[in-house]
Amino acid sequence: MRHPRLPIVVVGSGVAGMTTALAAAPAPVRLLCRSADGTGSASALAQGGIAAALGEGDGVEAHVRDTLEAGARHNDASAVRWLCEAAPATVAWLDALGVAFDRRPDGGLQLGREGGHGVSRIVHAGGDASGAALMRALRAKVQAAPHVQWRGGVDAEALLLRGGRVAGVRVRDARGRQQLIEAAAVVLATGGLGALYARTSNPPGADGAGLALAMAAGAATRDLEFVQFHPTALAVDGHCLPLLTEALRGAGARLVDRAGVPLMQGLHPLGDLAPRDVVARRVWQARQQPAGGAWLDARSIEGDWHARFPTVLATCLAHGLDPRREPLPITPAAHFHMGGVATDLDGRSSLPGLYAVGESACNGVHGANRLASNSLLEAVAGGRRLGAVLAAGIAASTPGAYRWVERGASLPPENLLALRELLWHAAGPVREDMALRMAWRRCAAAAGAGWQMRLARALLQAMRLRCDSLGAHWRGDPGCAAQAGS
Ligand code: SIN
Repeated sequence: MRHPRLPIVVVGSGVAGMTTALAAAPAPVRLLCRSADGTGSASALAQGGIAAALGEGDGVEAHVRDTLEAGARHNDASAVRWLCEAAPATVAWLDALGVAFDRRPDGGLQLGREGGHGVSRIVHAGGDASGAALMRALRAKVQAAPHVQWRGGVDAEALLLRGGRVAGVRVRDARGRQQLIEAAAVVLATGGLGALYARTSNPPGADGAGLALAMAAGAATRDLEFVQFHPTALAVDGHCLPLLTEALRGAGARLVDRAGVPLMQGLHPLGDLAPRDVVARRVWQARQQPAGGAWLDARSIEGDWHARFPTVLATCLAHGLDPRREPLPITPAAHFHMGGVATDLDGRSSLPGLYAVGESACNGVHGANRLASNSLLEAVAGGRRLGAVLAAGIAASTPGAYRWVERGASLPPENLLALRELLWHAAGPVREDMALRMAWRRCAAAAGAGWQMRLARALLQAMRLRCDSLGAHWRGDPGCAAQAGS
């Protein structure tokens, strides 16, 4: 083991990437991101907060139980325990970093409730603007950190392998200029892939590019079939839809049909606060009915909307809707990928020198369906853990032949639009074998057209092979005739 002279390259500057970069001190870090100014990550849009068993009568056991229940017990139990145990210290670390969490008049942390949680255990900062608050605090620390060199406006398009170990990246800027960055280790913190769907709560950059790069290099993946759909995106035109946070339902909002009849009544003991996959399927089904649809009625919420839900209020008003006065039209939207680059809890992938953290990784913590507000938690807790591993020193690279692995060309825009529609209809909240098979065939036939097709082919393959319903992967057809490669 030695302290690396080469930098650690972190690809992605959302919460997971910035936390990893900070925690890796004093190792030198190059932090790369696609947007020129560091904006554009899904983290900044996160309206939920951080789940942590901090309330009276709550405890780690209960947080573990709710995480496993939401995850359909597909989670790795030891990973879940690690996450839930790490949660209170994660909140304390962010507090010390300067994140101004919302507090009660007596100074204690204000705890909110979201779907799948048996009690109130979500801390927020700035009401429904928690992600932005975390990003601001982390960004200030990163900018002041002498060991971190930040570079925006570049896309990591290829990995350098030397002697079987990942030893660098090649980036390309908006003018097409390429640069090789040799690295002691490469960390993918590139987020999820919701933007591959026609309707998503994610920003356009959450398109699975990091996962596709890892796959091109031969890194093992895991649980690709588990894509979470948020039940309450605002049903307006567009690709990246505004989110209506679950905290609204935690504060009393109800899901209703056109006639105002509650949608969740009698369907689940937690009613409107059932785990996200259950609610998303109900909303999806309600929208499939002739003259159907689904609405979120938040008119009963009391208190200061500007303080509690500033993002939701401003977004709705911008679309000509007032949540204080009228029910809001909703649709499910692709929100979070439980699957990703297979890693251990230290973020190690199957490829020496390649790490992944946050949504781009799959370490088994979320199972088949992530519990609300466990994602910012995992991004910070996982980033701190991985950063500490990298700071402690990483194995020296082995001499050997160099080889470049390319992610490959991107799909032309019109093909990307078609792919998004294909995935939305075939690989959405309810899936059927015939539609999955036809979609897989289309992607397989067009695999050479762009990396998004190859990634979609892999997702569809995983969905076809899981014939049973589990968590966010719901099969609407009885039985299963999937044959790999047919
Ligand atoms: C939400 O605020 O509803 C989203 C929170 C999350 O994704 O955990």
